[in-house]
Amino acid sequence: MGNQSEVFWQDYTVSRHDRTALLNQEPMVLWFTGLSGAGKTTLANCLAKRLYDCGYATYVLDGDNLRHGLNRDLDFSVAARQENVRRMAEVAGLMYDAGLITLAACISPFKAERDFARSLVPAGRFVEVFVDTPLALCEERDNKGLYRRARAGEISNFTGIDSPFERPEEPEIAINTSGRSPGQCIETIMDYLTTRRLISPTEPGAHNTTRQRA
Ligand code: ADX
Repeated sequence: MGNQSEVFWQDYTVSRHDRTALLNQEPMVLWFTGLSGAGKTTLANCLAKRLYDCGYATYVLDGDNLRHGLNRDLDFSVAARQENVRRMAEVAGLMYDAGLITLAACISPFKAERDFARSLVPAGRFVEVFVDTPLALCEERDNKGLYRRARAGEISNFTGIDSPFERPEEPEIAINTSGRSPGQCIETIMDYLTTRRLISPTEPGAHNTTRQRA
């Protein structure tokens, strides 16, 4: 832990408000939580494309991908997951500050770290999306073959098998992906964002066009 009493906060002239005005969008953090194989990456990918097509500047922070770089030193112990999610939360907060619509997709199994992520952005700008796909379906999909290996005892501390997942109690959005296409699932999210006026009602390219006219 660094000694913050000897480090000073530096203020910069160009503010978040300047950056968001330039981008002409409301930054926010969409935090996808759920079991491995629940569909977090698929939905984040689909939503990022949809928002991009509408002219919004987005960035996706993916748990698996960050574990190839920033978080490559972390394993799947409880402490390492806490640190993994803490870093993801901090980066999401920075991306929010940069003015981006940030999509974070990681299991984030513990309420405390999800709440920490929430605490880093203003109220109403954090949207917790619980991808609530039943364990049995995640295990049946087993896209990466990891459940089979976890059941065989080749992988330990696997979420849902021998490592806990604390279900979000009051997520802004809960989605069970069983029997629904990714496109249908993201419409639920788009409706939420539109109703809350976090984005404008959009057709592909519409937001961009508005920006060019402004
Ligand atoms: S988190 O728990 O720390 O939030 P994160 O989302 O970064 O997890 O990484 C989860 C991904 O790592 C899974 O999608 C899966 O592909 C892979 N993985 C490897 N080992 C495990 C494990 N023991 N538990 C869960 N996921 C694992």
